Amino acid sequence: MIFEEIEQLLNAAAVKAGYYEKLSVTFSNMPKMCDFQCNDCFSLAKKLGKNPFEIAENIINNVESNDSFIFVVARPAFINIKLTDKKLEEIAKDYLADERGGLPLHVEKKKVILDYGGANVAKALHVGHLRSPIIGESLKRLYKLMGDDVIADVHLGDWGLQMGLTELQLYQDGVLDYYFSGKGQEPVITLDMLNEAYPKASARKKDDEKFKEMADEWTLKIQNREEPYFAIYKKIREVSVKEIKKHYSELGATFDLWYGESDAAPYIDRAIKIIQDKGLTRESNGALVVDVAVEGENIPLPKKSEDEEQRYKNPMPPAILKKYNGGVLYATTDIATILMRNEMFESVDRIEYIVDMRQKNHFIQVFRVCKMSGISPEKQELLHIGYGTMNGKDGKPFKTRSGDTIKLEDIIDLLVEKASEKLKTNGVEFDRDLALKIGVAAMKFGDLINNVDKDYVFDIDKFLAFEGKTGPYLQYTAVRINSILNKVKDTSQGDFIIDNDEEREIIKCILKLNSSYELCYKNKTLSPLCLAVYNLASAFSTFYNNYSVVNEKDEKRKQSYISLLSLVKQKLSQALNVLAIDIPEKM
Ligand code: ARG
Repeated sequence: MIFEEIEQLLNAAAVKAGYYEKLSVTFSNMPKMCDFQCNDCFSLAKKLGKNPFEIAENIINNVESNDSFIFVVARPAFINIKLTDKKLEEIAKDYLADERGGLPLHVEKKKVILDYGGANVAKALHVGHLRSPIIGESLKRLYKLMGDDVIADVHLGDWGLQMGLTELQLYQDGVLDYYFSGKGQEPVITLDMLNEAYPKASARKKDDEKFKEMADEWTLKIQNREEPYFAIYKKIREVSVKEIKKHYSELGATFDLWYGESDAAPYIDRAIKIIQDKGLTRESNGALVVDVAVEGENIPLPKKSEDEEQRYKNPMPPAILKKYNGGVLYATTDIATILMRNEMFESVDRIEYIVDMRQKNHFIQVFRVCKMSGISPEKQELLHIGYGTMNGKDGKPFKTRSGDTIKLEDIIDLLVEKASEKLKTNGVEFDRDLALKIGVAAMKFGDLINNVDKDYVFDIDKFLAFEGKTGPYLQYTAVRINSILNKVKDTSQGDFIIDNDEEREIIKCILKLNSSYELCYKNKTLSPLCLAVYNLASAFSTFYNNYSVVNEKDEKRKQSYISLLSLVKQKLSQALNVLAIDIPEKM
């Protein structure tokens, strides 16, 4: 809004001065000098063959007199704009009265399906699955805040080879006799059993061809809902999903739909028929495939290869719909899922997948098949938001000392342990819920402050610091504001009196914070919001260190402080809510 206001004044002045080119303003590059700037006089001068400084002067001399903005020309030809204290007070007052705190709502509302989480049934959740629920949850909250209609689907991996592998392993370990012989007691399948069976089977399949073949067969039996394979599968799924739900809830990730690949199974035959009817399929070594390569394209392999030639000379391989044995694959269920989503929900504008960047080619294949076959309508946007890897301090994917992948459960334990240590030094007694809130906030902020596609280093001590660009620092700031507001007996808000730099800075940070939401929305990343909310918290701390709200004697000023605190609290809470970071009671 503020941009429009300045631009309106500026453009009216330009027209008065005889210039008809549209001028625009941005936040200032030199915040010490001014708040906004317009750089357009240079291009305008070039077009007209005139002196840019003179143009700038002509324009500002024609600006309608007002008590909100101060326009100054700076050499060589920038128009600098400063907000007056009166304007800052007005903005603060408007924002405080508005439940969105001055954050504009999108006029055009989109219907979006977000596919994130994506945990695999029967496999233990590990660090590779950490970023998707963190980023996905925040994007969901962001889109909703901006006005979109968002449906979050966890899309569990529950229809693949891991089912056959796990079941076969359990059978060979003698756990499943009851189902095949009918003798004895029905076994209780536990999480521990699954956590042992899957890694064992997965390692075995690598050099035991027979075992692998059999696992393929069992997977197919499950996919065909043959008994007792399917009944056992349902048990495994149940145990596993319970655990997955627990972890996602600890991470604060919530879903509207708890569907899995298996829910798309009833759509597979129809999806394949649609693709076949379009004449897009062919047979290849007994498998049913769709060619999706585009002529002349060079698809970079996601993994860096030593040989640069090799790295780029890859036409996109065909998408495989059915294996030699009739079994379906990851791509098949994803294609069927798009069909399902379009049949279940009307006019979906976008489907976004928050999935590891290394699955880039998979999504290119799936999206191409859906577009070529019309399973996804032409105007629907299909988007893979690929995230980078979470690395250890050595710069390599985060692993245990012995080189194993780290289970999510262990990460959560580590976060709780480290946060508890931190709290203890602050004199706070052990409280798992509190430690979890702080640990998870540390983890989330440490992740989200990076651009989604970048790898980052998981540095728990840095993430957990109570000072600096961290989740706990933001929580701490919010807790502190709450405690001040609790301390002052009379919390009636008064008119804003803004007449010092610390307060000015806070309002300007709020303006930037508000505009960061749009940037995040456009670029599908939370990084600008993280930075902007940190800047606000830090501006607040500076103010807080220099002024005492509780002991202020001047009643009017005190009430202005209370208004300011209330506004900062509102803006902080709104941002932390998007980042899915909880504000604790104490810290
Ligand atoms: N289960 C998959 C994996 O672990 C992630 C699922 C992502 N979503 C999707 N629609 N493919 O790699």
